[in-house]
Amino acid sequence: MDPRYVALLVAGLHLLTCKTWALVKVSMEDRVEVFLNNQASIPCVYSMNEKAMIITWSKKLPSREGSKVLFMIESERWEIDDKDYTGRISYTHSYNSTQSLGSIVLTIDKVQLSDESEIICKVKDNTLAEEDEGHTQLQVFNPPSIPAILGTDKGISVDEDKLSMVADCKVDNVYPRPNITWYRGTFPLQSSRDVKIMDRVTKNPSGLFTVYSDLHLKVVREDEHAEFYCEVNYFTPGEKRMMESNKINITVFYPTTEVTMWANPAEKLLKEGDTLEIGCTGNGNPQPIFTFYKNENEVSTENELLVLKEVKRSDSGTYVCQILDFETYRQFEDSIDIMIHYLDEIVVTPEKRVLDQGEDLTLTCNALASLSTQTEWYKDGVHVSEGHVLKLHNASSITEGTYLCKVTVISLPELQKQTSLHINVRANPKIIEEIVVSPRNKGDHSVNLTCFAQGYPKPNITWNLNDLKTGEPLTESSVEYHEKGVGVLSIISVKADSEFTANCTAFNELGITSASRDVTTFDRGPTTTTATHTKATGITVPPKKHQQGGSGVVIAVVIICLLLLAILGSFLYFLYKKGRLPCGRSGKQDFTKDNANKDETGMKSGKSEEAVLLQGVNGDKKSPTE
Ligand SMILES: *[C@@H]1O[C@H](CO)[C@@H](O)[C@H](O)[C@H]1NC(C)=O
Ligand SMILES: *[C@@H]1O[C@H](CO)[C@@H](O)[C@H](O)[C@H]1NC(C)=O
Ligand SMILES: *[C@@H]1O[C@H](CO)[C@@H](O)[C@H](O)[C@H]1NC(C)=O
Ligand SMILES: *[C@@H]1O[C@H](CO)[C@@H](O)[C@H](O)[C@H]1NC(C)=O
Ligand SMILES: *[C@@H]1O[C@H](CO)[C@@H](O)[C@H](O)[C@H]1NC(C)=O
Repeated sequence: MDPRYVALLVAGLHLLTCKTWALVKVSMEDRVEVFLNNQASIPCVYSMNEKAMIITWSKKLPSREGSKVLFMIESERWEIDDKDYTGRISYTHSYNSTQSLGSIVLTIDKVQLSDESEIICKVKDNTLAEEDEGHTQLQVFNPPSIPAILGTDKGISVDEDKLSMVADCKVDNVYPRPNITWYRGTFPLQSSRDVKIMDRVTKNPSGLFTVYSDLHLKVVREDEHAEFYCEVNYFTPGEKRMMESNKINITVFYPTTEVTMWANPAEKLLKEGDTLEIGCTGNGNPQPIFTFYKNENEVSTENELLVLKEVKRSDSGTYVCQILDFETYRQFEDSIDIMIHYLDEIVVTPEKRVLDQGEDLTLTCNALASLSTQTEWYKDGVHVSEGHVLKLHNASSITEGTYLCKVTVISLPELQKQTSLHINVRANPKIIEEIVVSPRNKGDHSVNLTCFAQGYPKPNITWNLNDLKTGEPLTESSVEYHEKGVGVLSIISVKADSEFTANCTAFNELGITSASRDVTTFDRGPTTTTATHTKATGITVPPKKHQQGGSGVVIAVVIICLLLLAILGSFLYFLYKKGRLPCGRSGKQDFTKDNANKDETGMKSGKSEEAVLLQGVNGDKKSPTE
């Protein structure tokens, strides 16, 4: 059993015990609360000595003038008087004779807003002598939609004299009428001098409410970051509830009272060629229009930003940005000092690049810079010294080379310049290799001769070609001339039908040198001899031991001759041993004696056997002298 009914029954019992003088007593709840379209149950408890025969349900009219009968129960028969309730109304009726308590519960389905009223239950005793009635307030509820907030899309100035509408809030289809509360951050707003909340309520044909609430404010700067929202408070059966809208921000306009100038990049040292942005930021909203000045001259900007591409040292200076507040005619400005660092092209002094042997030279490498620099010298890619002065002592061929001077700004290493220079040292011509002869061309019988000479200034090379036998001069058919490193290479092509002498002469202003070579054997590759001649230059090209082929042939011929003689000697000795050759012992003695004599004359005892045999043969020939 519903606890509400129990409570009513207890109340009924109380009536019974305390007020026994009454024949009928009715007891009802003060109020019954129900959601729209739900079912409402309204109990009515009475105390009477028998089950009631006539019960009338009626509802109080809103006009407070009387009431309207809903329906009547007469001896179990019942009849609906109000057509609005046809099909929606039912009841239960029970009676407990031991307690003399009756209970009627009226049920209304699909409760409408129009059902909301004071419901009266009237019970008559069966003699119709007495009656009593109870009242219950039926209350209907419908929860609202989620509150919809809409902020203004316009910015609001803090200088606005009047209050400005900031946002509106709307809740739909609610019953009964709810309350809307506005919040700024976590604080509820109440109407005051700076806040005005204007609510508007409309009633739908169905009887539900739509509530609008407009928030008007005197906007302050802090509102820029504040979150605004509205909250709806509404009743439901048994409790009060609330819902919140989304949170919104508003745009607040306020004047600029301070400007800050900035540069990007900010921290880095700037160098020529960099790109620099200079801008200005005001503390107001919206950003004001800035005017930029450089060294007191106005400069035009694009999009309120000064963009300097490929900056130059002339871009250094003081930049100012300024605004003028047209309402107050107050002026605000800020400034920034910009320094563009630079490193100029390197200058190496003196201009002198050619030295005499033994000469000294002090090279100075300078570059103008806005910051302190560091100078390094490299020779042929190898670091040789630091500092802007490079001293060259006692120039010689090792002094020659390519020198590089590199200047770096210490605090801004990207700022670096370098220059290179070549130092030459005057030198007599020198023929570095002997004349090289190529194999003879089988077709036109030509050979190529190559001569390589060094010296500074670069020597010129001339050739003299003379037939070995006739001494007639030959002419070269083509001359090629290559500058190769510190030297020159001369290649000539010569028609070589006979042996000839080639003479290569290299000369420059300091001297002359030459090399010559006999070009002789063509079929088995070139066989030549070389002689060098130096004339007043003090430079000699040492003859190269290149004649292995020629001397080898001579040695071979000598060895073959010696072998032939040895075989002949052996043969003669054999004949002598066999006695076929008439020869006395003296011959043999002479041989040994002769041999001994040779030793005494300082001949080497290791003399070859062939030599001994030869001697023997000679001795044999000498034999008639004995
Ligand atoms: C709305 O405000 C009024 C007055 O402050 C108050 O009596 C009522 O209970 C409130 N209603 C709700 C739903 O909070
Ligand atoms: C200069 O160099 C030459 C050889 O290159 C050497 O003989 C001479 O002594 C050097 N002179 C000095 C002053 O060092
Ligand atoms: C000589 O040199 C020329 C050009 O370098 C080349 O064409 C020719 O074949 C050479 N002759 C011989 C015999 O090597
Ligand atoms: C050396 O040769 C160059 C070009 O081959 C020529 O101009 C110059 O006159 C020559 N010098 C001498 C001293 O012959
Ligand atoms: C090469 O020829 C030059 C000039 O004709 C001469 O002075 C020199 O002695 C010759 N050199 C040799 C090694 O024959």
